[in-house]
Amino acid sequence: MKKKIVSMMLCVAMAATMMVGCGSKKEEAAPAQTETEAPAEQAAGGTLVMGTNAEFPPYEYLEGDKVVGIDAEMAAAVAEKLGMELKIEDMAFDAIIPALTSGKVDMGVAGMTVTEDRLLSVNFSDTYATARQVIIVTEDSEIAGVADLTGKTIGVQQGTTGDLYASEEDATIERFAKGMEAVMSLSQGKIDAVVIDSEPAKVFVSEVEGIKILDETYADEEYAIAIAKEDTELLEKVNAALAELEADGTLKAIVDKYISAE
Ligand code: ARG
Repeated sequence: MKKKIVSMMLCVAMAATMMVGCGSKKEEAAPAQTETEAPAEQAAGGTLVMGTNAEFPPYEYLEGDKVVGIDAEMAAAVAEKLGMELKIEDMAFDAIIPALTSGKVDMGVAGMTVTEDRLLSVNFSDTYATARQVIIVTEDSEIAGVADLTGKTIGVQQGTTGDLYASEEDATIERFAKGMEAVMSLSQGKIDAVVIDSEPAKVFVSEVEGIKILDETYADEEYAIAIAKEDTELLEKVNAALAELEADGTLKAIVDKYISAE
C-alpha cells in the first residue's frame, strides 16, 4: 500500500518535471555510431552529466565545493573510458530520478540502490557495490534491533530506501534532506533511531559522540548507476566501462582509498 503511494507521488513529481521541460541535451555533438563498432574507449567526446547528492560519505561528499568520494572517482573513470568529460550536478537525492527522466542529467551515481519501484522509471547498470541498511541509536538506547522500532520515531534521508523501508514500520517517520541532519537530531534526543546505509552510518557515527550502529542488518542492497530508460546506448557503454574497471582493479583501488577493511 505505502509502496503504491510512493510510486504515485514519484509519478506526479516526474510529470511535473516533464511539463516544465528542461535541460540541454548533452550528447548531440557525438557522431552517430553503430553499436558494433563502439567499444567503451572509442566513444566520441562530449559531456557526461552525473546527478548526485553529495551528503553521503564515503560515496559522495563535498570537499570545499568539490564533490569527492567513491562514486565521483568511479564516474570520472567511466567518463574517461567513454572519452567524455564528467560534469557533476549536486542535488536533492529525490531529485535525481526526475533529473534523469527529464534529460537534465545522463546518469545518477549516488550510492543508489536498485529497487523494483525505481526500475519502473529508470534502468540500472550492473551493480558495483553491495550495501546494508543499518539502524543508528544513542549509546544508552533501549532499541536493540529492528523489532524495537515499533512506536518509535525514526529519522531517514528523504526518498532513500531507508525512508521506504522505515515507512513500513509501525513508527513515526521524520524525513530529513540530509542523512547527517537525521543523525544530529538523534544525538540531540529528538528522535529515537536513524535508518541509513552502513558506510555513511560508519562515517557519521565516527564524527558524532554518543551514538552507535546496531549489529542487526535492516536490509541488504546493491548499488548501481541509474540511466534514463531510452538511453540504452549509454547503459551498454557504462556497463562495458564498469566491467573493465572491475577487471583491471581500478574499482577496488578507488573503494580501498575511501573504505578501510574492517
Ligand atoms: N542507498 C540508498 C538509496 O538508494 C541511499 C542513497 C543515498 N545517496 C545519497 N547520495 N544521498 O535510496
